Amino acid sequence: MGGLKGQHIVLIVGGGIAAYKAPDLVRRLAERGAEVRVVMTRGAEHFVTATTFHAISHHRVYHSLWDTETESGMAHLQLARWADIVLVAPATAHLIAELAHGFAGDLATTLALATDARLVLAPAMNRRMWRHPATGINVETLAARGARILGPATGELAERESGPGRMLEPVEIAQALDGAGPLAGKRVLVTAGPTEEPIDPVRFVGNRSSGRMGYAVANAALNAGAEVTLVSGPTALAPPSGAKLIPVRTAGEMAKAVDEHIADNELFISVAAVADYTPKQPAKDKIKKTGKTLTLELVRTPDILAEVAAAKKRPYCVGFAAETTDVVEHARAKLREKKLDLICANRVGDEHGFGREDNALVAISADGETDLGHGSKQVLAERLIALIAERLPHESG
Ligand code: CTP
Repeated sequence: MGGLKGQHIVLIVGGGIAAYKAPDLVRRLAERGAEVRVVMTRGAEHFVTATTFHAISHHRVYHSLWDTETESGMAHLQLARWADIVLVAPATAHLIAELAHGFAGDLATTLALATDARLVLAPAMNRRMWRHPATGINVETLAARGARILGPATGELAERESGPGRMLEPVEIAQALDGAGPLAGKRVLVTAGPTEEPIDPVRFVGNRSSGRMGYAVANAALNAGAEVTLVSGPTALAPPSGAKLIPVRTAGEMAKAVDEHIADNELFISVAAVADYTPKQPAKDKIKKTGKTLTLELVRTPDILAEVAAAKKRPYCVGFAAETTDVVEHARAKLREKKLDLICANRVGDEHGFGREDNALVAISADGETDLGHGSKQVLAERLIALIAERLPHESG
């Protein structure tokens, strides 16, 4: 991510209990060389005072759109231009909803709408609010526009509950933004999305992959400090900011892009739903409906993951197995056949998987299974990356 030294960060503090950690966050960001200006929402003022932020950031704290103290009363435009990163921490369910829908009712949201800076969110809320489909869709909407999502962590929440929803610790947020997490200095190549295999100039054979899981994995790898190349089939998603995107359409193009970029990567995570077959000879012109039936001859595509895993000098290889039945058994067979280090078994077809918000994953290696549980693709991706980061130095040699 290039580090935080000299970066201008506007920290928007939302109105949640985790706001009490925001002063420490200002300190941690400043320690890493960032310049920080603080914008408080009205809700935040219930949890922490402007005086605290003023003392720690050594700058005035911004609250209102209608602030006559600021030159020409246009704080939102000045801050919007000044910022390299707009960091929302804690990002409450309400603030996430406002940002997803482009509301501009206060300084924080107006500023977020008026800036070209990278948007980074550290969500914090009650676990039921985090799991609510409304929040899930809002987070996905922001991620699809390229926002980085840091966390939330699973753990003890307010009201004596526990589950996903806890804001990452300030030191973790600062580390993630500084590219200093457990994958710092590592290069990771991720494939994502479907492929489209042309039948004729207007038709293709495709699949229902949305690309969300692969993009969530790329986002989580960035959060862990990795340098990420994302080779993606056609999706409606914006790549997470900081990733190098290589857009492709067909399995053949994806194989070529991976081949060209895989050298020097320590880790390959193959999340793409690559077509196994492609039309042998796509028609030059649009096929007319002449006969009662139409037969397409399909030929096998290259198995990108198996080819990377078979190379002499190879990265740590992680596959995904989308299965509808005997999920773990089939995945285990693929682990062996493709000679992978790790495979994630992913149930698709019912309430999980392709095109859905939620997922359930089991990570399988030669020495056993780790249940990554059930949750949003974002949360599962963070857990998967944490697991890979633990194993990487030992297993890749
Ligand atoms: N994969 C790949 N290139 C292909 C097909 C699959 O790189 N041509 C990768 C996928 O990205 C995934 C893994 O291989 O990580 C498993 O893909 P999947 O389609 O589930 O397995 P297949 O081996 O194709 O088996 P089948 O379709 O028969 O279930």
